Amino acid sequence: MDRKSYVERLKEEVRSLCEKRRAVILAHNYQSPEVQDVADYVGDSLELAKKAVTVDADVIVFAGVSFMAETVAILNEDKVILHPVREAGCPLADFLNIETIRKFKEKYPRAPLVVYVNSYAEAKMYADYIVTSASALRLISKLDDETVLFGPDKNLAAYVAKKSDKKVIPVPPHSYCYVHECLITRYHIEKARDERSTAKLMVHPEVSPSNQEMADYIGSTSQMLKAIDKSDENIFLLGTEEALSYRARNLYPDKEIYPVNPRAICVDMKKINLLNMKESLERLKHKVIIKKKVRQKIKSILDKSLEMIK
Ligand code: 13P
Ligand code: SF4
Repeated sequence: MDRKSYVERLKEEVRSLCEKRRAVILAHNYQSPEVQDVADYVGDSLELAKKAVTVDADVIVFAGVSFMAETVAILNEDKVILHPVREAGCPLADFLNIETIRKFKEKYPRAPLVVYVNSYAEAKMYADYIVTSASALRLISKLDDETVLFGPDKNLAAYVAKKSDKKVIPVPPHSYCYVHECLITRYHIEKARDERSTAKLMVHPEVSPSNQEMADYIGSTSQMLKAIDKSDENIFLLGTEEALSYRARNLYPDKEIYPVNPRAICVDMKKINLLNMKESLERLKHKVIIKKKVRQKIKSILDKSLEMIK
């Protein structure tokens, strides 16, 4: 059997297992084309968290990294949440540990701690608010506090500081996502622009501030998609993980859309594939289990934070 027929057969098997289990697949915008194709919903981390709450299903298969699957599990006590590959984590989340949080809270006792959703549950437990890249600026702008602790991700912190009137202290100061910091550089942007000089450049706020300055638009993955939809322009360069371009081309087939760097790949996102999704649905593995106390605490912070950006 050739690869194409094999992939098509796997897709059919995954879809029929979904029917059998009354399951839906939620996939992040960075998933591979075949995973996006088989998913019920594709979106950014905020959209997927919201969708998970309203979707009518017994089981959710989450195609993304572990912090996103955890967030979905925290918001959905009554559904079975499956994360096909437990080890699909987020290296950015590793930057924020309890020791670092305590150190910064001691130094800035009056500043609220806003925790980026790209973090582990143990860090979220200490948060006053939890945000995604789509909600960080909106939520922080609404706070009365002048100074805010934000982590992990120094670049998103710098973006919010620049666009709001707040002092946003990155926790820790050196935290970054390797995909956006190291694989979307000035070199990659200039090279992509040399090849397509009339293209509009859109970047994720996780890219470094000097590269944000080069962009025509800055936003979360789905905010970029919406901005393409609204734009009269026809050619776009996306400064983020390469798979967003597949999603964008599917949505807007009349536009020309390219990744700034086709090698800007999030290795952990790509650990999810059709085979492990099929196995996950067959054996109901791996269930995301969150301890009750942790779930209740983080859910109350998430609910409060989601309410603020309504
Ligand atoms: P979005 O919420 O913009 O989809 O981003 C998630 C992410 O992991 C960015 O690297
Ligand atoms: Fe984490 Fe970066 Fe991958 Fe997003 S792209 S999941 S921030 S490592």
